[in-house]
Amino acid sequence: MQPFDFSGATAVVLGGATGLGRAMAEGLAAHGATVCVVSRSIDKAKATADVIAEENGGRCWPWIADAASEASINRLGDVLSERCGGRLNIAINSAGINTRNPIEKITLEEFESIQRTNITGAFLFSKAMLPLFEAAGWGRLINITSIFASRSFPGRTSYASSKGALLQLTRTLAIEWAGKNITVNAISPGPFVTEMTRPLLDNKEAYDKFCEHVPMRRFAEPHEVIPACLFLASPASSYVTGADILVDGGWTAT
Ligand SMILES: NC(=O)c1ccc[n+]([C@@H]2O[C@H](COP(=O)([O-])OP(=O)(O)OC[C@H]3O[C@@H](n4cnc5c(N)ncnc54)[C@H](OP(=O)(O)O)[C@@H]3O)[C@@H](O)[C@H]2O)c1
Repeated sequence: MQPFDFSGATAVVLGGATGLGRAMAEGLAAHGATVCVVSRSIDKAKATADVIAEENGGRCWPWIADAASEASINRLGDVLSERCGGRLNIAINSAGINTRNPIEKITLEEFESIQRTNITGAFLFSKAMLPLFEAAGWGRLINITSIFASRSFPGRTSYASSKGALLQLTRTLAIEWAGKNITVNAISPGPFVTEMTRPLLDNKEAYDKFCEHVPMRRFAEPHEVIPACLFLASPASSYVTGADILVDGGWTAT
């Protein structure tokens, strides 16, 4: 058995046009999967999907969806069903937004907008993917949580609470779907070089201070998330569900 051969498998990456989502879409396509890259912008989705398709025999296509909209996520489910013959094997939720603010400066609207994308969106996405996994006979749902699901800093009320909830959604669905041949796991990244960490990357003092929490003393490159994704998406992880793979340079070991 070749554990990382995804020939014939179908996959979707919500938040797949940029950052970690894009890296995972590239990794899956490079190992044989046909991948749908989803963004809120069809131009961004198309730009990424075109590059991945060009490098991987056309096995990538774009779609537009907003995790915060039930209608939009349900439409994504319908389109995936049409395009993938009613079945889907691998769904990755890499959609996420972050704000940094002390609680006295967070409006209810701001707090709710983070929860809407990071946790309500994950709920909607999971629900829409279930019938497609069931039709396929096996499924792999992977949620990109964060080190902030289990660690926190001042000013991260909105983000950390949403990621903690996402980890518990992952564990609960893992139990609920355990008899369906569908695994549900999380990847908790430490700091990575993406647009989300741009405020730290652009400020050397803040970057160095953040790195003091990380034994490896650096941010990871996006490609460093791919092996965890391939493992959780593959038959090699057939008995792994409800797990959280920490790709964090050792942060949680401290
Ligand atoms: N970078 C890090 O250090 C780090 C650490 C821990 C966890 N994470 C998590 O990793 C995931 C990916 O982040 P990233 O670092 O790769 O940053 P990123 O490049 O900013 O990616 C975030 C992605 O979320 C998508 N997104 C945001 N709101 C959305 C919505 N309402 N509907 C659909 N998609 C939405 C964006 O897609 P469009 O803008 O194209 O629509 C974008 O592709 C996030 O969940 C983040 O919380 C990142």
